[in-house]
Amino acid sequence: MSVYNYPAPCAPDYKKPTKVADCLPQARKLVTKIAASEQPKVGVAPRLFVKEGDVVLIVTLPDQDKYVAEAAAQALMEKGAKKVDFIYPRQLVGRDPEIVSVEDGWKEVELLKAGKASGTEADLITGLGLGEAARKHLDEHPEYTSIFFDVAGGNARRSLGKHAGKFRGYWPFNNWEWFLARAHTFPEEVWYEMERRLIEPLGKASQVRITDPEGSHLEFSVTPEEAKRWEIYAMLHGHLIFSTLHATSGEYRQKFLDETLDCPPVFAGVTGVLAGTANHCGFFPRIELYFERDKMVEVKGGGTYGDGIRDLKEKYKNTRWPGYPGKGYFWFCDTALCTSVGAFRRKSDMFNSQWVYPNLPERTRAGVFHLGFGSRTFAGEKEFEDYARKNKLPRGHIHVHNYMATFEVKLRGTNYWYKVVDKGWVSALSDGDLRGIAAKYGLPDEIMKYDWIPPLPGINCRGNYLKDYAPDPIKYLKKRIKEGKSI
Ligand SMILES: [Fe+2]
Repeated sequence: MSVYNYPAPCAPDYKKPTKVADCLPQARKLVTKIAASEQPKVGVAPRLFVKEGDVVLIVTLPDQDKYVAEAAAQALMEKGAKKVDFIYPRQLVGRDPEIVSVEDGWKEVELLKAGKASGTEADLITGLGLGEAARKHLDEHPEYTSIFFDVAGGNARRSLGKHAGKFRGYWPFNNWEWFLARAHTFPEEVWYEMERRLIEPLGKASQVRITDPEGSHLEFSVTPEEAKRWEIYAMLHGHLIFSTLHATSGEYRQKFLDETLDCPPVFAGVTGVLAGTANHCGFFPRIELYFERDKMVEVKGGGTYGDGIRDLKEKYKNTRWPGYPGKGYFWFCDTALCTSVGAFRRKSDMFNSQWVYPNLPERTRAGVFHLGFGSRTFAGEKEFEDYARKNKLPRGHIHVHNYMATFEVKLRGTNYWYKVVDKGWVSALSDGDLRGIAAKYGLPDEIMKYDWIPPLPGINCRGNYLKDYAPDPIKYLKKRIKEGKSI
């Protein structure tokens, strides 16, 4: 028997609903009533916020599960909604979203070229510009007091313009498997406390090291002031901002500038290699991306995904974004740690999805990192936007997922390295005090466990990573599906 240093693969097995009653208990847990004057706290974790008398519009996709839709509408009405309507992309933008598959991980770089990458105004759910279309629809239909749309990201509310106050949250529930996930009903108190414990060490960091068994090894250092700024803006519920550049640029930077100090975005000098086999769109042959002081300097492998990155890197090698320390398009600009303990890789539509990012669900599980490169748009900074427009530059960034990373910080003034995440396990989940809080809601061992751990042959299950997995992850995953094994 082989013994592995990483936890064995596992996955949840939700059953496809066959009636509304299969979805009602979950719908009732997700609906949260708020006061008329309250702004919902929307994070990546979806909640169905409702106010008394709301007339609700839900922007969904053609593959909407009908039992989920009925159950959600019923639960919203039980908690005070007057009416719940669903609307589809065809009615808003005149066409259906493309059907995509996780087999096409290379598409993420195509989205970047098309100006629809993460970090731009494109909605993550379809990339069809639903935000703007929804805004116009709300102009024409003032009776709606509440709207749900998109699946994550910070642009949904903003894209609604003067209707931003009607944004009640995301709607990732076209898919029944995602809707039924226990991930969304993780006790909120435990969730926030866990995140607080994850962020606190950042403010004490002097050096940072990220390693992963698929081959990543990245390091950078921060000054005391930079570490403090990082800690302050790392909190985005469900999706913590572990990139110093992300946490100190765009809207975050502007908040900090209120303090009358000049605090430019923090380029921490990320150096090393980012390696992996998956992104938000899907899978690709293993890629290695080399960075020197935040800038991408070399790309090895990656198949078509790698080719697309190499093309853009070459094409824009003389570009110098305003505010960036040198020339070049690809900068290390994203290290996000999602925190949904019960999240998982969604099987029901992974080869037949209407989300533009069919592999997005896996990255929401606590401990999974998605690391990104490209440009932080420095949203709202006119000079940056004008420059991109004038030079016809794509904006935004693309990703690599790391499942079993160790993220450790060297605590300032000591030689002690603290593992914030240890081989994919969020250390805070082992914190005695946090487990004490969790005990109010049930058995901590049950609440604070991962339902999903991906198979990586040679790393946490039988096989050879470089031979059996790295060249063609999809082939390996399909083989396991055929054998009835978890993916
Ligand atoms: Fe990102």
